[in-house]
This record gives sequence, C-alpha cells and structure tokens, in this order.
Amino acid sequence: MTSLPLRRPRRLRRTPALRSAFAETRLEPSRLIAPLFVKEGIPAPAPVASMPGVYQHTLESLVKEARELAGRGVSGVLLFGVPAHKDSSGSQAGDPEGISQRGLAALKAELGDEALVIADLCLCEYTNHGHCGVLDGDYVDNDATLDRYKRIAVAQAHAGADIVAPSGMMDGQVGALRTALDEAGYADTVILAYTAKYASSLYGPFRDAAEGAPQFGDRRSYQQDPANFEEALREAALDVAEGADALMVKPASHYLDVLRAIKDRFGLPTAAYNVSGEYSMLMAAAQRGWIDERAATLETLTAIRRAGADLIVTYHAKKAAEWLA
Ligand code: PBG
Ligand code: ZN
Repeated sequence: MTSLPLRRPRRLRRTPALRSAFAETRLEPSRLIAPLFVKEGIPAPAPVASMPGVYQHTLESLVKEARELAGRGVSGVLLFGVPAHKDSSGSQAGDPEGISQRGLAALKAELGDEALVIADLCLCEYTNHGHCGVLDGDYVDNDATLDRYKRIAVAQAHAGADIVAPSGMMDGQVGALRTALDEAGYADTVILAYTAKYASSLYGPFRDAAEGAPQFGDRRSYQQDPANFEEALREAALDVAEGADALMVKPASHYLDVLRAIKDRFGLPTAAYNVSGEYSMLMAAAQRGWIDERAATLETLTAIRRAGADLIVTYHAKKAAEWLA
C-alpha cells in the first residue's frame, strides 16, 4: 500500500460552498457597533484627517449617519461628545443640556428600539487637562471621579442611553454607576464595562476626533500596562462582581489573547473595541494600495469574532455592513 493520506483537510476547503458551510465564525452586521462623534457648535460635519471616512458630526448629520447604520443592520452606535467649552471638572459631560445628552436624545428619538444608543462615559473630552478624571495636583483622584461619573451616568440614562460604557478605568466605576443608576430609577440601563482597557499607542487618531488628548503626562496611572494579562482577568472579576452586564477589551487586534480568556472565563457578553489606530493603520496602507481594504477589514473583524467577541466596536462598521449585506 502506498501511503495516500486518509485524512484530507483540503476536502472541506475545495469550493466556496464547502468553505462557507463549514466556517466556524460568521460576521454579521448585527455584531457591529459604530462609534460616532458629535461636536458642539460646528456648522457642518468635519472630517477627521487621521481617520478617513470618520467625521465630527453636527446633531443633524449624527442622526442621519445613525439612520444609515441602522438601515444596514448595525446593532448600535457608541456616542462621544465634543463640547465647545471645557473646564477642570468636565462639567459639560453631565449637563442635561450638554452636547452629549442632546446627541443621545436625538439618537434615541431617531432610532427608538431599532438600534442601541450607547453612551461612552468619561471625562477626557470635557476636561481642559484631557485626563479621564478630576485631578488632585497631577494625579487623577479616583473617588472624586466616581462622584462625577455617577451624575454623568444618570444624565445619560435620562437622555435616552440604553447602555452606558464607562471608559475611564477608575477603580469601582462599575459598582458606583450601578448604584447611581438604580437609585435614580434606571435599573434597566445596561452597563458595558471597558474592562481591560490598555494604555495604548493606538488611541492617537481618536484623540484628534474627540479632542481629548491629555495636556500633560499620559494615562498609565489608570489604564492597563500592555505587558499584563493576569491583571486583565483581575479587572474582569471586579467588573463582574460590581454588576457589569457586558465586558469589553480594548484595543482589539493586539489583545486577542485577553479577549479569548475573558470570554472563556466569565462567559458574559463580551465586546472588543477595534480602536482608531487599528483603523487608521489599515486605511493608510489601503490608501497607498499596499493592502486591500475590504479583505483586510473583513479578516480583522473575523479574527476579533473568532477570538471571542460577541460585539465589535469599529469605525469600519458602515462599510463592513455594506460588504456583508
Ligand atoms: C477615552 C477614550 C479613548 C478611546 C475611547 N474612549 C482614548 C483614551 O483613552 O485616550 C479610544 C478609542 C479609539 O482609539 O478608537 N476614555
Ligand atoms: Zn477618558
């Protein structure tokens, strides 16, 4: 007997029909969430130079964009507000008349229950120093920041947010928000916790879009060290204990090990944030003709799903949804 292979894995790869039928991971528009930026006081949508295809929206263009996304089957939008005026405590973040609350209300009025309205909850877009909390000297004061976050969460829920997503990486933030929301009558408002958020070099383009770059220092005293894995699991355990409804890992592509582990270990709905730097690197290469935008995007998103993401927050959402239709 010659030794012909008995097992031939290529059998299942021969045709598109075979490959599709046996694919383990599927990507659908409903797995995607689109981040959107709304800026106060601009007359027309402003393109973000470092993020081709991404805009700082007016209230009007925000709603229009959300409508198109919902029409393509994207599950929701994650809103970031960019106020005209910043101060040391980021007071606009929780102002019922502030740009973010007006944006949330406009989105809710447009989308109803057709797609999710998710509010990013942080202070960096609203503080004049660009840090994610209130300062005590040069240090971000954890517990004073929690007091600010609680008020913001209630304002966001009141404005119509289905989900609040605290991204500031303060200790105890999930528990503080759960209590504040429950006490204010928003027991059904979902908390999507930015659980493992790393102090990443890949947030640069976002900081152009959200105008929230730290004016001194960096975020390493509150965001996680990229060197750490176990720490992410400890963070996740705390968020689960504090009442998080869903967990998020951020960035996505460089942290697929963390994503897989958190999904397996905690079994909660798990999201991954395919961040601005991941987007801009891919788009820059695509614009030079160095990679194929569509293929690279779909491969990236599929890989994030394969690693355990139920939901992917991505600036590619609109195009990807179109390609997947
Ligand atoms: C702010 C925030 C950041 C991002 C989401 N919320 C930036 C940061 O922490 O500096 C990054 C998103 C992206 O890069 O797409 N809390
Ligand atoms: Zn922040």
